[in-house]
Amino acid sequence: MQKTTLITGGAGYIGSHTALSLIDAGHHVVVLDNLCNSCHESIERLEHLTHTRIEFVEGDIRDTPLLEAIFSHYDIEAVVHFAGLKSVANSVCQPLDYYANNVVGTLNLCQIMARFNVFNLVFSSSATVYGDPPKTPIVEDCGTGTPASPYGRSKLMVEQLLTDLALSEPRWSIALLRYFNPIGAHESGLIGEDPNGKPNNLLPCLTQVAIGRIPQLTVFGNDYPTFDGTCVRDYIHVVDLAEGHLKALQVLREDHGIHIWNLGTGIGYSVLQIIRSFEDVTGITIPYQVAPRRAGDIAQCWADASKAQRDLGWCARRNLAQMILDSWRWQSSNPFGYRHQAELLTAIAR
Ligand code: NAD
Ligand code: WQD
Repeated sequence: MQKTTLITGGAGYIGSHTALSLIDAGHHVVVLDNLCNSCHESIERLEHLTHTRIEFVEGDIRDTPLLEAIFSHYDIEAVVHFAGLKSVANSVCQPLDYYANNVVGTLNLCQIMARFNVFNLVFSSSATVYGDPPKTPIVEDCGTGTPASPYGRSKLMVEQLLTDLALSEPRWSIALLRYFNPIGAHESGLIGEDPNGKPNNLLPCLTQVAIGRIPQLTVFGNDYPTFDGTCVRDYIHVVDLAEGHLKALQVLREDHGIHIWNLGTGIGYSVLQIIRSFEDVTGITIPYQVAPRRAGDIAQCWADASKAQRDLGWCARRNLAQMILDSWRWQSSNPFGYRHQAELLTAIAR
């Protein structure tokens, strides 16, 4: 049987880009996704880009019999685990959904992995586990903080769960990848970020203003203690992020235990710099208004990514102009994401 990498959440934004990188590097993959925040079209586009048939299972990581069937059918050697809910705002209104999906889902996945003697796991964590960091750039061993939302706390709980697991059984090789702010899209413009309903993150809001789906951008706060008063973040190209997963999988084959790596560029940009850069790259003027601060936002956050460079031989290679160009190519070639406009209008009318 062929050695296979299971990608949970592989129909989603980061998962689909990582599936592409893995397939391009010669991995055989199977994707498990319940499509609660994605659609089958992303899988079809992956098939187009890779000229292969993607093995896709529609289902939930909490469905134990389904996981047993997948682990029995394929010779799984590693799991790259993206599946989970990711909206900070929704997590405040529906905390139980977030803990059930992100924490219980991961617990279930790990139980099945152990039962089938699969011990290599790459987990999608987040810079949110640092809370409001005492200093920037953030190094992995500065300790975790208090995340501002149930979403963030679910990520921290999973990190703790996985750390305990790795300590309990030396065969586990686990990577906690702490992503900073993923943006951009594959250069083909065929796969990208397709948020359900109103987006929360800066880049999807910005590109939806540019395409005319949102009348103007709201800038949350211009009175932060930063050089221009707006928040500073470390934006990273999703393809660079995907390549980080590939490197982590290679290292996990040899290095057992728990490993934590920041995946960021090490450079921070303010909200106003992002708007200006978008205007420069695309030639489109972005109307915006300044509003009060958004609850839970921290002033600034960027990575020290030197540990990933040292251990994985990985660093982000794509600059901000490339990230913005690729985000815009995706949005402008797919104004309504993966769904066609007619389908969307029917859904809205219902
Ligand atoms: P996404 O929503 O595009 O992808 C997640 C995928 O998981 C979706 O396709 C969804 O349908 C699927 N899914 C959700 N719950 C599931 C379940 N119970 N069973 C099976 N499939 C399920 O999100 P993304 O931006 O690609 O994020 C991927 C991972 O990275 C998430 O765990 C997220 O928390 C984490 N992360 C994302 C960011 C970001 O800004 N995008 C930053 C840090 C960490
Ligand atoms: C970036 C900056 C906003 C929208 C979130 C999660 C984090 C991680 C990445 C998953 C902030 C400002 C935004 C808008 C704005 N996700 N902004 N107007 O908040 O850094 O991180 O996504 O793990 O956990 O918290 O990213 O893109 O939402 O915001 O002014 O319409 O843009 O205030 O300063 P954030 P973001």
